[in-house]
Amino acid sequence: MKIAIACDHGGFPLKADLVKLLESLGHQVVDLGAHHFDPHDDYPDFARALGTAIQQGKAERGILLCGSGVGASVAANKMKGVRAGLCHDVYSAHQSVEHDDVNVLCLGARIIGPALAADLVKAFVGARFTGEERHLRRLQAVQALEAGR
Ligand code: RB5
Repeated sequence: MKIAIACDHGGFPLKADLVKLLESLGHQVVDLGAHHFDPHDDYPDFARALGTAIQQGKAERGILLCGSGVGASVAANKMKGVRAGLCHDVYSAHQSVEHDDVNVLCLGARIIGPALAADLVKAFVGARFTGEERHLRRLQAVQALEAGR
């Protein structure tokens, strides 16, 4: 799968390990930065880059990292077609895809360590939307909200 990853300075400590993990699992990684640690960078800039990659079909899924994961998820969810979930437990990391068709996993590098982050990413990328009628109905209702209907 083609997977985009991006982080601000708060998420920076997790990114390199997750890129390696994704590559070791056979995924194609689109690394949208930050490419060096800059304590003054801003998470919405990375949410924009990652969300744009999803919108343009340059990546099927995204992983977005900040300090808590909260700012990343708030910003990413402002972008049309992006469904971002902040998941710090393994159940949510896969269920968010299976039921809600989440396409961006947000993680907070100040909250979780590299081992849990790796398990969460594996659960997220290994999951598929079930397409069951009730989930499709809810997804369409979410899309109506996004469209202001
Ligand atoms: C950056 O210091 C921090 O505020 C940001 O990474 C994130 O945690 C926001 O939710």
